[in-house]
Amino acid sequence: MKRIGVLTSGGDAPGMNAAIRAVVLTAAAAELEVIGFEYGFNGVLEQQYFSLTPHHVNHLIQHGGTLLKSARCQAMFSDDGVRQIAAVLHELAIDALVLIGGDGTFRGAMALSQYYQGKLIGVPGTIDNDVDGTDFTIGFHTALDTALDAIDKIRDTADAFERIFLVEVMGRHTGYLAVAAGIAAGAEQIICPELAAELDTDKILQHIRSAQQYRGRCSYIIVVAETMYPGGASALAAELERQGVDCRASVLGHIQRGGRPVGADRILATKLAAYAVEQLLQGAHLVMAGEVNGEAVLYPLAKTGDKQKQVDPYLLAWQQRVAQY
Ligand code: F6P
Repeated sequence: MKRIGVLTSGGDAPGMNAAIRAVVLTAAAAELEVIGFEYGFNGVLEQQYFSLTPHHVNHLIQHGGTLLKSARCQAMFSDDGVRQIAAVLHELAIDALVLIGGDGTFRGAMALSQYYQGKLIGVPGTIDNDVDGTDFTIGFHTALDTALDAIDKIRDTADAFERIFLVEVMGRHTGYLAVAAGIAAGAEQIICPELAAELDTDKILQHIRSAQQYRGRCSYIIVVAETMYPGGASALAAELERQGVDCRASVLGHIQRGGRPVGADRILATKLAAYAVEQLLQGAHLVMAGEVNGEAVLYPLAKTGDKQKQVDPYLLAWQQRVAQY
């Protein structure tokens, strides 16, 4: 193996730069050339790439975003597009490709494997933590702290007015971020797909009323996973207002994707990306580098989107038990 490619694809996540750095440094130590493709798979298709050297990744570890930019690539949804991407990789003599992204990126890798003869390895980077085969994805811990910082601030103003707030967090179709942020912020309610497939406004109101009976007037924070209500937290707040409850909505949105990665994400990114390159050299193919119980592991890329990973069942059950107090 002489030349490997690396790209970041899908929603960016804090720590992707740390992963790029570890790919480049590990490759340099093994005398491999690294080609960095920009804008995910689009950069392969459009041949937007550059030779990535250790010089490029100097002092990169602390920065959010991704040096290689990111994108979602429409061409990956057509057979023709996938063939073209494979053809460019062959033309550039790329022996292996490291893909840093989430389950969408890994689905892309599986599609590419039909036409691309080189090796493919994934590194899980997404704030959603919705990838099987690793306890945590790169970016999740930073997004959690960002959400927490925002919710703590909302708590101050909520306390001052003894107000009810709905705080919408990202996570796509999962509640990993919602549950973690809700528990860590001491939210009174957490609404996420793992607790109920459909949101029940009567139940929300009932919980608010019993908490108010128990505690008297006080601030009350409900963390809502982004896909739980059509129109999001603002629409839900409007609905609760219609039912006589004065409340405010705050949508945290893309701030959760930005910022300096926290230590846990920098370390995870370094470990998984370094491991991915080392495993490529050992012949790994169509696998993702993950971490389970502190150990670096390889997991089949084809299974990363199976949704076997559970949101902490203990904390979920506990939250339900104490919600009314
Ligand atoms: O997958 C990361 C993520 O931030 C999700 O949490 C969110 O649903 C989605 O990406 C937002 O995507 P976009 O940046 O295209 O609005």
